[in-house]
Amino acid sequence: MANNIKDGFTSKFGIIAAAAGSAIGLGNIWRFPYILGENGGGAFLLIYLLCIILVGFPVMLSEFVIGRDTRLNPYGAFKELSPGKPWFIIGILGVFAAIVILSFYSVVGGWTLEYLYQAVLNNFENKNINDFDKMFNNFISSPFRPLLWHIIFMLINFFIVIRGIEEGIEKFAKIMMPVLAIILIIMAIRSLTLPPMTENSKAVDGLIFLFKPDFSKINIGVIFNALSQAFFSLSIGMGALITYGCYIKKDDNLGSSAFIVSMSDTFIAILAGLAIFPAVFAFGFTPQAGEGLVFKVLPVIFQSMKGGYIISILFFICLFIAAITSSISLLEVFVLTLMQQRNYSRKKASIIGFLIASIVGIACALSWSVLSEVKITLPTSSGEMYEYNIFSMLEFISVKFLLPIGGLLISLFMGWVYGKERIEYELSNENTLKVWYIHFLMILIKYVAPIAILMVFLNGLGISIF
Ligand code: PHE
Repeated sequence: MANNIKDGFTSKFGIIAAAAGSAIGLGNIWRFPYILGENGGGAFLLIYLLCIILVGFPVMLSEFVIGRDTRLNPYGAFKELSPGKPWFIIGILGVFAAIVILSFYSVVGGWTLEYLYQAVLNNFENKNINDFDKMFNNFISSPFRPLLWHIIFMLINFFIVIRGIEEGIEKFAKIMMPVLAIILIIMAIRSLTLPPMTENSKAVDGLIFLFKPDFSKINIGVIFNALSQAFFSLSIGMGALITYGCYIKKDDNLGSSAFIVSMSDTFIAILAGLAIFPAVFAFGFTPQAGEGLVFKVLPVIFQSMKGGYIISILFFICLFIAAITSSISLLEVFVLTLMQQRNYSRKKASIIGFLIASIVGIACALSWSVLSEVKITLPTSSGEMYEYNIFSMLEFISVKFLLPIGGLLISLFMGWVYGKERIEYELSNENTLKVWYIHFLMILIKYVAPIAILMVFLNGLGISIF
């Protein structure tokens, strides 16, 4: 089998930056706040954190182990590790998930470019929250601009991936991720100190909403949303980190890398929450504003800040780069698989991936305009009916369906087929490091993760098993 992996990332910081670059993205800043807003706030956060520690971290580590051990794409890796058995299905599901996610992800990536453009034109000035609400709704319900930005975003993605992964990603991620964190901290401070718009609207209520768990809000739907968001945010369950694992050097400490990546990802998500929710409450807005939440609220913060013009530009540049470093990991899953399994050149594989995701993405970009009538109504886990457009349907299929199934199969494979000895051998860098946490990790991989995913998943889909 062709193994086209050249050399690894240049430094330990390289793989951490690249994997964190994949993990940190629109999932943290766009999706996390809006899902948290729709799922009751603090209670969601608590369950989300549990999902990261008990399920997300072990699955992330598993993906690194498989990737570095085999140096193969997700499909090839399972074929090699377990010949003649159907585990390679994980790879097929992963490649499929990568393309589906990429097609809606690049649409939101396009939104960041539109907002960068608006920021440069100084179009946030002297507007209030209602204006921004309208601005966003007008934007996504117009057919042309979302489409144009989506294609531009995909093209940028394509040009980075075609050049090969080592050169592109590291450089971007290393500088921009820390800058993003700093800007978010500044924004969180501004958000918290915003004056109330009305007597009853207080920024501090945003903190309470974010951190105080209201246990009555917890139901299976909330748990399901927290689990799938954890997968999405950590980039796990579809082989993106198996793919990046291929590029990790043999003497890197996988355990500490996975720990740092999952912690930085969580840190950025919480920072995004800290920037958004105090402002939502100070302005008397609603946390349940759906997928437009961040794009409606952030401009209000900029517009009320000294130096807001510069900061808004910087912020959207960072957000765009965070989105690009994630989306290249999605395209790379597809590209590496075709390169290794079919002997395609990087160029040919990149062109095919680019074309498929761009075309499917067109349907997503038009979900609020030309194709807004194309809808499917399905029951949610709480029995209510929910209307999905093309965009939210693809988000549902990939994030709530494919990622948890992928995570379940990966943990089952690691715990019961690959097994403790090989995991320990790989994590200890061929017995040179001490893996003090191996017993605890094995309990998570063999029992906790698969049982939790299975129960949450089945119940979340309305199949009651407890
Ligand atoms: N984790 C990325 C984000 O938070 C999205 C992503 C999911 C990237 C799955 C790769 C694989 O934006």
